[in-house]
Amino acid sequence: MRITIEKAVSLLKDHGNVAVPTETVYGLAASLFCPEAIQQIFKLKGRPSSNPLIIHLSCKEEIEPFVETVPPGFSELADAFWPGPMTLVLDILAEKIPNSVRAGLPTAAFRIPQHPIAQQLLKKSGPLVMPSANLSGTPSATTPEHVESDFGQEFPVLDGGACRMGLESTILIYQNERWHIIRQGALPGSAFKKVLGYIPKVKGNENPEKPLCPGQLFRHYAPQTKLILSKDCSVLEDQTILGFTDRHYPDSCRLISLGSLSNPDEVAENIYGILRFLDDEKQEVVYVDVDFPKRGILATIFERLNKAAAGC
Ligand code: TXA
Ligand code: MG
Repeated sequence: MRITIEKAVSLLKDHGNVAVPTETVYGLAASLFCPEAIQQIFKLKGRPSSNPLIIHLSCKEEIEPFVETVPPGFSELADAFWPGPMTLVLDILAEKIPNSVRAGLPTAAFRIPQHPIAQQLLKKSGPLVMPSANLSGTPSATTPEHVESDFGQEFPVLDGGACRMGLESTILIYQNERWHIIRQGALPGSAFKKVLGYIPKVKGNENPEKPLCPGQLFRHYAPQTKLILSKDCSVLEDQTILGFTDRHYPDSCRLISLGSLSNPDEVAENIYGILRFLDDEKQEVVYVDVDFPKRGILATIFERLNKAAAGC
């Protein structure tokens, strides 16, 4: 059900949940100050309670009440990339943020989204927690239709059309005097060099008991369709290939296109919609062309395809 910003504000104040467009993906919002609505997010999504939520704010000044100090480089990153598709994990004053939001961690993740509807809403609603608006483990939602397909036609959605970027925010944490990427996202690592003087390294969850990014431990982005990653699609016969319009595939194969490799932004915008389309078409097995350079945003796209395939 499509709703107005005024209706969204009143639902959120009244302990409800609404879906909100951002420039990355749609978010499933609850007010930071409504514990019931936060619990409902975990229930609606089927999300493990050990997976914390990102706190969304309308401007960087709103972070101040939640933190004592910020790490070096924080202001530079904030000024360069907010509002936008960057999330920063910060040490916080624990009593200021409900345990359920940060899964008991001494940190919380913050993002200032750029989308005009998200901005207008946040100015009126105050801080919102927003995971991606999809059932846990499945491809994220980048249109109102995706949200309605997961949560039903009656679920309240602010209609911002299709998300411009189509991949989640890049998440960074500061450790051992450096920023590290703990979830690749819409901003490639190279984007941070001009601000930090170095490209932050991608850091995985080396210790699953104490994960840097708990969400990365779980099944993600996976359609029902079994995905098989292929470095050489030229050997395939009579298969369906998830590939690119500027590539040639065997004549006996059917191409489902992610877009053109020469336009990675287009591929990013399409990826979750196409993964959902595979399920709409009830495809059983699809080969995925991953013979492309893992640079820039294509590195994030490769990571998403890997996770989507691992979930099968
Ligand atoms: O683009 C985005 O980031 C979207 C839009 C809606 O803003 N949100 C999003 O939320 O992708 P979600 O819940 O799907 O992914 C958030 C990720 C999870 O992997 C979670 O574990 C991680 O952020 N996270 C949240 N708080 C954290 C914390 N304190 N420390 C480390 N990772 C954290
Ligand atoms: Mg998600």
